[in-house]
Amino acid sequence: MTTLNREISSLRSFESVNAEPIDVLFAEHRITEQALNCLERMAERWSSPAGGDDLDWTAVHEAIVFFQTFVEDWHFRREEAYFAASGVRLESIEIHESGKCTFHDHQRCATHLRGLAEAVEVIASRSTAGQPDHLDPATPAREDDQQALRAEEQALQAEEIAAARRRFGEHARAYVDILLKHIENEEDFMYPIIVRDAPPQTKRAAAAVFRQVSRETIDAEKLNECLAAVGNLVERFVGSAKDST
Ligand SMILES: [Fe+2]
Ligand SMILES: [Fe+2]
Repeated sequence: MTTLNREISSLRSFESVNAEPIDVLFAEHRITEQALNCLERMAERWSSPAGGDDLDWTAVHEAIVFFQTFVEDWHFRREEAYFAASGVRLESIEIHESGKCTFHDHQRCATHLRGLAEAVEVIASRSTAGQPDHLDPATPAREDDQQALRAEEQALQAEEIAAARRRFGEHARAYVDILLKHIENEEDFMYPIIVRDAPPQTKRAAAAVFRQVSRETIDAEKLNECLAAVGNLVERFVGSAKDST
């Protein structure tokens, strides 16, 4: 069994018991790390402005859906509800290179994921743009002029694609770096603060909030789609035959 399959089994086993929120969040981190590993490899392969491999649109789409749904819509939201109910302030342990704690990691991740998705849209639309529609073959211009305009337009499209590839890589790498460090901070600092400092009744109340928000948030069908998506990504970028640690 691969590492990913073990983590998915753990997560599924928590559905049938009232598992501690932190155990569920840990399992979600492990699955998220697998998807981040794949995103890092996508950035390596597809962000070169000079070209490189064509994007695998299915893989990119699966990655974006996974991070938007599993990570942002579910993990971040339920975690924030749990932290709030536990009395732990997210800002209290945020460590940024600037020394300021004004911008939360969850928001920084969301910004980079939006940027990444926008860059992918630009690459997709420019790659399929074809011939510029204002260059009508019936236009009574000299053929040389038409060809020059066409070449100019194609050069512009190539520049836009190169710039979008670069932005894709920048946002993907920033997203991976921020989220990996954030997961480490949560597991090393934030979760232990709750375990150590929150009174038992506060922990029980926070766990109830977490389960309630989970019921309101997670759609079983969508969850299956997300887990299948990360499975496909690992198979595509890491390989199914070996253990994907
Ligand atoms: Fe978080
Ligand atoms: Fe987390």
